[in-house]
Amino acid sequence: MAMIAKHCPHIKVTVVDLSVRRIKQWNSDDLPIFEPGLDECIQAVRGKNLFFSNEIDKNIDESDIIFVAVNTPTKVYGMGKGFASNLTNLEKAARNIAKVAKTPKIVVEKSTVPVKTAATIRRVLDAANSGVQFQILSNPEFLAEGTAMKDLEAPSRVLIGGGQDAAGLKAIQTLVDVYANWVPRARIITTNLWSSELSKLVANAFLAQRISSINSISALCEKTNADVDEVANAIGTDPRIGSKFLRASVGFGGSCFQKDILNLVYLCRSYNLHEVADYWESVVKMNDYQKKRFSLRMVRTMFNTVTGKRIALFGFAFKKNTGDTRETAAAYIADHLLKERANVVVHDPKVLDEDMYLEFKYTLGMTPESFPDMKRCLSSERDPYAAAKGAHCIAVMTEWDCFKTLDYEKIFASMAKPAFVFDGRNILDHEKLRKIGFEVYAIGKPAAISGGC
Ligand code: UGA
Repeated sequence: MAMIAKHCPHIKVTVVDLSVRRIKQWNSDDLPIFEPGLDECIQAVRGKNLFFSNEIDKNIDESDIIFVAVNTPTKVYGMGKGFASNLTNLEKAARNIAKVAKTPKIVVEKSTVPVKTAATIRRVLDAANSGVQFQILSNPEFLAEGTAMKDLEAPSRVLIGGGQDAAGLKAIQTLVDVYANWVPRARIITTNLWSSELSKLVANAFLAQRISSINSISALCEKTNADVDEVANAIGTDPRIGSKFLRASVGFGGSCFQKDILNLVYLCRSYNLHEVADYWESVVKMNDYQKKRFSLRMVRTMFNTVTGKRIALFGFAFKKNTGDTRETAAAYIADHLLKERANVVVHDPKVLDEDMYLEFKYTLGMTPESFPDMKRCLSSERDPYAAAKGAHCIAVMTEWDCFKTLDYEKIFASMAKPAFVFDGRNILDHEKLRKIGFEVYAIGKPAAISGGC
């Protein structure tokens, strides 16, 4: 919405939310999320044509286009538990629009939703029998966190799906005209509603599939002394394969990939397409395997026990340049190590402690009540040197650039010996670390002690 406000000074954009606290933060100098470039963009337009408000009904009433961007997390109960999306918030938003609207509205699905959700919204809106004309569009978002502002400024494409009758096409054109203020027309793709809803899930499934594919090969590289980065480079130069999203890692995280694939799996199963469902579910299974494999390797390498050992996790965000911890691989690794009774110390330049503990609560069901020792065994350090002091190993969970330039001689001197590094992102200079005295293990790389022919 900030980007629309920036490029469309003639359009008044108001972001509404139920949470008074959140809106207060959006109206302050301390925004509730960290995203490079967002502060500057908001500062430039807030109070001019971008507003944040708790007055939901008033703003529904006054608007012509309503973007619904509520969260749709994976269901944790009932039918479709663990796979389907929870559409409670979306339905509530639609009901509220139906109740309040008095003039024609274009309702845009911005949240990632299962295919055919637009039909649900239509039924809810029509059931109000208010006589108001509603048009429903699907306009999924393709930005990635950490590069959101760049992605929005020059998107690879904007996708708009809508009804194919005259009124639907007119609504599509209205939204096309908004984006055309800064996006070249050739990059604005229009489709029917269902293609647009499905494309969002499929785009994420294909991206995640590439990561699981290269991660599966990383396991084979560790057995054969091949180097996964060399393999990725060699295959990525083929333009039919391409070089992006081939970085082997400790496993993908984030609020989208797993959720969207499970949603796709659920959709396929509901149409009795079990082979198709199994195919996509294996992408998530491979990701689970990669996380498990990494933490098992840590324990095995450290003489089959980490009980009572201090372990420094460098990074907790699901990727660099964000403080977002949702579905981060780091939480699964930490969980496994805590179950082995290690003492885990997390250092991340952007993650807030409250978000870290929330991730344990929501994704892993771990709370101070279910795990009384949690606060003692799992702590955080703002200073990386303090985190590593006395630790038996450092495990890199997030590819933050600042980890590359730390003084590893100083870190080595302060650690228990042998001092191990497990590089879950392949970002550190492994040769240099070995020269300092570290025993280094990386994803899909020959182990130091078993290297050579
Ligand atoms: C992803 C998609 O890239 C966006 O296009 C999409 O709009 C977004 O989901 C969404 O549906 O909202 P995001 O989750 O923000 O974006 O971040 P990605 O850059 O895709 O990274 C996802 C995970 O994959 C991270 O944990 C990252 O570290 C990991 N990854 C990525 C790898 O392990 N290897 C790679 O080569 C690339």
